[in-house]
Amino acid sequence: MTPRERFLRACGGKDVDRPPVWLMRQAGRYLPEYRSVRESITFEERVARPEVAAELTMQPLRRFPLDAAILFSDILTPLAGMGRAARFPGEGGPVVDNPVRTPEDVASLRVADPEGDMPFVLEAIRLLRPQVGDRALLGFAGAPFTLAAYLIEGGGGSSKGFAETKRFLYHHPEAWHRLMDVCARTAAAHLRAQIRAGCDAVQLFDTWAETLSPEEYERHALPYVRQVFDALHGQGVPLLYFARGTPHLLPFLPRTGAGVWSVDWRVSLARVRAENPGVPLQGNLDPTLLFAPRETLVRETRRMLGSLGGEAHIANLGHGIVPGTPIEGVQTFVETVAGWKK
Ligand code: CP3
Repeated sequence: MTPRERFLRACGGKDVDRPPVWLMRQAGRYLPEYRSVRESITFEERVARPEVAAELTMQPLRRFPLDAAILFSDILTPLAGMGRAARFPGEGGPVVDNPVRTPEDVASLRVADPEGDMPFVLEAIRLLRPQVGDRALLGFAGAPFTLAAYLIEGGGGSSKGFAETKRFLYHHPEAWHRLMDVCARTAAAHLRAQIRAGCDAVQLFDTWAETLSPEEYERHALPYVRQVFDALHGQGVPLLYFARGTPHLLPFLPRTGAGVWSVDWRVSLARVRAENPGVPLQGNLDPTLLFAPRETLVRETRRMLGSLGGEAHIANLGHGIVPGTPIEGVQTFVETVAGWKK
């Protein structure tokens, strides 16, 4: 069984020798080879130069026996094509200089065009296809709520309780709907183009959905997640959905239209499985366990694997790798999964 077959079969709930493994945010600052590229090339350029994006995608695959690669890019890459480019100053997170604050601002947004606005993403995928060989290649996009939160807040929204985003949706329900529709159509077009360029699967990241109550999520975010996945069902590739920090939103997952649910470490995989038999699950080791002593990390990784018995499971972290993570921790985690027997 090749790594790609293992990944695709697990996403389809079929029998595998052991769960496939990859890590969210597996390319990045914990790798010295990434930090050396970072010294001479800005983040925007790392994303916009296909040969650099392809190289950064490959870096973790050269070190660890991973079953899948995730394209090096960012969920905010499509914002430029929408009319609001994001900047990545390095510290403090991304910034959108001219945030969306009025219904008129929403009217000025466009649906990003993958071929016209971000051809470098598709070119990076074409370069990567032969390089990843028999491993799976994942594309991704930001979910509509998370994109909208960046567009409205302009940066640093989480520290302010997403007050601007909430204010907008309470005051302008009509414009909110139009904003979410533009975000959903942008994400769907972006993911469709990534699949056409050669991705084996796609993941929608809904990092900021955690700020919504169940009622708000159901009314103001869920329909647009569904819109994205409905636009992709005919594509024949696994559709993964990850919303960090959302135990309170688990009851809505069946209505997202996602085929694989990527769950956070604060949720019990066994419980989600018991309540939703047959749904393929991804996750969910606490990313900070990669800092733990080797014995603790091995024990907890095995406990996580054992909780699903290797059935319909894609081993991963419960969120992205934290900067400063020791490489030995990543190595131990991936090797423990690779050596695990059902
Ligand atoms: O997973 C991978 O290795 C592929 C590449 C990838 C990046 N960002 C590269 C990146 C992916 C899948 C993302 C997704 C992303 N980007 C999310 C969703 C996942 C999550 O973490 O919840 C979000 C919310 C963003 C927005 C974003 N981009 C933030 C908040 C930041 C700054 C903080 C941080 O995590 O570094 C970025 C910049 C960014 N995107 C970096 C990388 C490697 C760091 C750039 C650098 O300083 O070198």
